[in-house]
Amino acid sequence: MVHYDPFSAEVMEDPLPVYAKLRAEAPVYKLDKYDAWAISRFEDVWTLSSEPSLSVASGTTPSQVLTKVQPVTPMLNLMDPPEHTKLRVELRRFLQPKSIGHLEPIAREIVKQSLDEALPTGRIDVLGEFGMRLSVQMACRAVGIPLEDAALMASLVNRFFGREPGVEGMTADGLAAAGELIAYFMNLVATREKTGDAADDVVNKFRHVEVGGRKLAPEEIASHLSMLIIGGSETFPKTLANVMRRLAEHPEQRAWLRENPAGIPEAFREGLRFDMPTQFLCRTVTKPLEVGGQKLMPGQGVLFLYASANRDALEFPNPDVFDIQRRAARILSFGAGIHTCIGLHVAQMEARVCLEEALRRMPDWEVDWAQSERLRTEFVQGFAKMTVSFRPS
Ligand code: HEM
Repeated sequence: MVHYDPFSAEVMEDPLPVYAKLRAEAPVYKLDKYDAWAISRFEDVWTLSSEPSLSVASGTTPSQVLTKVQPVTPMLNLMDPPEHTKLRVELRRFLQPKSIGHLEPIAREIVKQSLDEALPTGRIDVLGEFGMRLSVQMACRAVGIPLEDAALMASLVNRFFGREPGVEGMTADGLAAAGELIAYFMNLVATREKTGDAADDVVNKFRHVEVGGRKLAPEEIASHLSMLIIGGSETFPKTLANVMRRLAEHPEQRAWLRENPAGIPEAFREGLRFDMPTQFLCRTVTKPLEVGGQKLMPGQGVLFLYASANRDALEFPNPDVFDIQRRAARILSFGAGIHTCIGLHVAQMEARVCLEEALRRMPDWEVDWAQSERLRTEFVQGFAKMTVSFRPS
């Protein structure tokens, strides 16, 4: 009989064997301790992502839905229709390909600068110096956060995701960092009010938009903005590190990619499928629902095990093979349904620029395991730190 607890040492060490058992033996699995259901098969997660009887309003992280230590504050990803639909439409235009096109040359400059600094030493810290330096600056620019505060944003986001042995989920310091982010954005909104800054950006969109027939209060705007900076800066470096690790492990695929750079978006997509950092996100049942012969009742939590679904053999032939030319019809790494990642075009552009430049300028990189640190938490898997070494030029 399969046993699954996202906080167990075994699962945090390597969740994939347990996911395989769940998919085979109990695709709709009850976690009694948390009164929640874990959904592990691709088709179920995909279909349930558009199920109106599942709500995000009680939170989506394990710290909100399972351990309940993280407060639920107003954020786009925690809104149900119709308010969600209205706000998402208003925000979407800022993150669409045509609105972010001007960011690509800036991204390339940032990436080139990182590589210029790294090339003489023959090593680069992929998460910090390469990935996060880019993603934080891109998120700041896409949203309208002053660029001089990019380093502060990076440090607050890193603290937010910190974990401590023996503490289930978010730490006290992570919660403090969340509070500091809110305080920062309240101050930013107050400054905009004072100066009358009328920039056409996300910060001002939040200041003026009406949702549910009223304007948003400053603390609501601050909460929305903190979600955008967290979502916009944290996941990309982790996925980039995973993709670079897999390409180093498959030098023949990397060599092919160097000759065929048009394949980079698909390679990144395969990396996202193969090693999705966010293990799962949650929903809460609002109306009785039957899934896979199980009855889900109002108030119960539901875990979309995205990382499991992306390895489901019913959806992907040879799911445990990394193949950058796979061309999967669907993947779940950006979610599905109405909460599909709104920042996916930003992430895809960042990945393309990073991988194009890395393949050109440090084509033989290897993971330096002595200078790398795995991240093993109930929520996010991958690397906390990853250094790669390459032939200096
Ligand atoms: C590789 C990078 C990224 C990955 C893997 C990723 C993944 C995801 C996933 C899985 C969701 C669905 C959440 C759910 O099911 O509850 C999501 C939603 C979201 N993401 Fe991303 N994301 C990335 C980058 C970004 C960026 C760069 C931004 C912003 C600039 C962003 C902003 C958002 C927002 C605002 C939502 C909520 C959308 C909604 O509820 O309508 N993400 N993302």
